Amino acid sequence: MGDNDQRLLRSDVGEPTVRMMAMPKDANWLGDIFGGWLMSHADIAGAVLAYRRARGKVVTVGVKEFDFSSPVYIGDVVTFFTRITRTGRTSLTVHVRVFAERPGALPGDYIEVASGSFVYVHVDDFGKSVQLPEL
Ligand SMILES: CC(C)(COP(=O)(O)OP(=O)(O)OC[C@H]1O[C@@H](n2cnc3c(N)ncnc32)[C@H](O)[C@@H]1OP(=O)(O)O)[C@@H](O)C(=O)NCCC(=O)NCCS
Repeated sequence: MGDNDQRLLRSDVGEPTVRMMAMPKDANWLGDIFGGWLMSHADIAGAVLAYRRARGKVVTVGVKEFDFSSPVYIGDVVTFFTRITRTGRTSLTVHVRVFAERPGALPGDYIEVASGSFVYVHVDDFGKSVQLPEL
């Protein structure tokens, strides 16, 4: 984890959970990165944190909001920071903040590009919701 990751972690953004490079196949016809690519990886990043907290299977039950504040371009390194914002009986909400590093930028020279909140439910092997374990 770099200095800027540590700084963001201290500022409550959450932990860097997924980091990807945006590739040409991820672009839309305008040449920018497709919003669905960002949402898909944000969902995966949130699920990683939820899976760890639940210590077992989780499924996505809702997306509360998703905002795109800046475009993402081919070659950007995109980091998905995650933080649990609410824990219920079987569900938990993870806020995901997405930052891009442009080609040539110093490592960790982040531009915020998107954010959203995902709700996950802890399920058993039959897909039935079950109570989250104690911490
Ligand atoms: C997740 C699922 C098992 C929940 O079914 P259920 O147990 O009958 O649902 P409930 O109404 O009892 O809700 C369970 C929890 O989810 C929460 N919840 C349900 N729908 C929600 C929604 N749209 N947004 C936010 N929270 C929601 C409830 O508030 C409850 O939380 P709590 O236990 O912490 O209080 C079922 O909806 C399902 O299988 N959905 C499909 C999941 C899926 O395939 N996702 C896409 C691929 S990962």
